[in-house]
Amino acid sequence: MTWSSAEVGVLVRAVNRAPSVHNSQPWTLEAHANSADLYERFESSLPRHDPTGRDRLVSCGAALTNLELAVRALGWDAVVSLFPEPGHPDLVARVRGTTRKEATLAEVDRYSAIFQRRSYRQPFSPARISRRHLRRLARAVTEPGTQARVIEPRRESEPLADLLCHAATALRGDRAYQRELAAWLPHFQDPHDDGSTLPWAGLVRANTHLPDRITLTERLAREGLLILLTPDDGRRDHLLAGAAMEQIWLAALTEGLVASVLTQPLHVPEVRAGLIEHLGLAGFPQTILRVGYPVDSPTTAPRIPAAALPAHEEEPG
Ligand SMILES: Cc1cc2nc3c(=O)[nH]c(=O)nc-3n(C[C@H](O)[C@H](O)[C@H](O)COP(=O)(O)O)c2cc1C
Repeated sequence: MTWSSAEVGVLVRAVNRAPSVHNSQPWTLEAHANSADLYERFESSLPRHDPTGRDRLVSCGAALTNLELAVRALGWDAVVSLFPEPGHPDLVARVRGTTRKEATLAEVDRYSAIFQRRSYRQPFSPARISRRHLRRLARAVTEPGTQARVIEPRRESEPLADLLCHAATALRGDRAYQRELAAWLPHFQDPHDDGSTLPWAGLVRANTHLPDRITLTERLAREGLLILLTPDDGRRDHLLAGAAMEQIWLAALTEGLVASVLTQPLHVPEVRAGLIEHLGLAGFPQTILRVGYPVDSPTTAPRIPAAALPAHEEEPG
């Protein structure tokens, strides 16, 4: 079989709706006869925010989940190979449509959720998601070894607040970091997020207000929080963490929930290490996912053509 152009359009649109670091869409999709290759665009670089490219691969992982769901929604069995050609490290995944296989209702629901998903950065409705519900969502992860760990609000909000404050203080005062962020902000500015206060300032800016420890602890305790963990910290782990994050996010949407992701604090090395130590994490934290009920109806962020995104310029010295 060969994908028709309409089918290719379905795959491209699904991939395009994936969340990505700074809305950079650091991937390209290449459709072949009965397969689709997902490439990582190495040139999409954020030297201050994401010097190792971890978030870039996490973003590609989210796109992979969307791609796989789109193949299933088209009625094909989807066989996924990760890094299928060792000589081409930028080829992160190949998804083959093998035999006809009708999508399940759950798959169709999650495929539809791709087009409703957006980052919900504001406070959630006071109707809180239960821990049991969060644990059930965490089971949406199908990637072996990758797990979503629920944050225990009573015990863990305080150490988390301390670490988020530490990260925010470090990044708020980092002028080179803030310059890079300012160049990207117009490309994903969220009308509901003016960056003014934690924990809802999705990305800490130079003017972000840091609440006192008790206030931040109380706010965090009211959020549904999951940390995506991987057994190792290599490229495959980053890709799978992104795939798992998107699986949970889409599953949450099918249940009337909304979510947003935080990786910014995890780019401060002592904060990432501190999370492992103080929360006793059994793996490497790759993303933090906030999940809750919305207070309004979500709107989706536009996608910007890659050519219109800011180019990375080397800084002298
Ligand atoms: C790997 C990754 C890291 C991200 N980190 C953050 C973050 O730290 N803070 C934040 O507010 N949004 C973060 N985002 C969300 C992106 O900014 C968002 O997906 C993008 O702007 C597109 O908007 P949308 O999710 O509404 O479609 C991240 C997304 C990904 C995939």
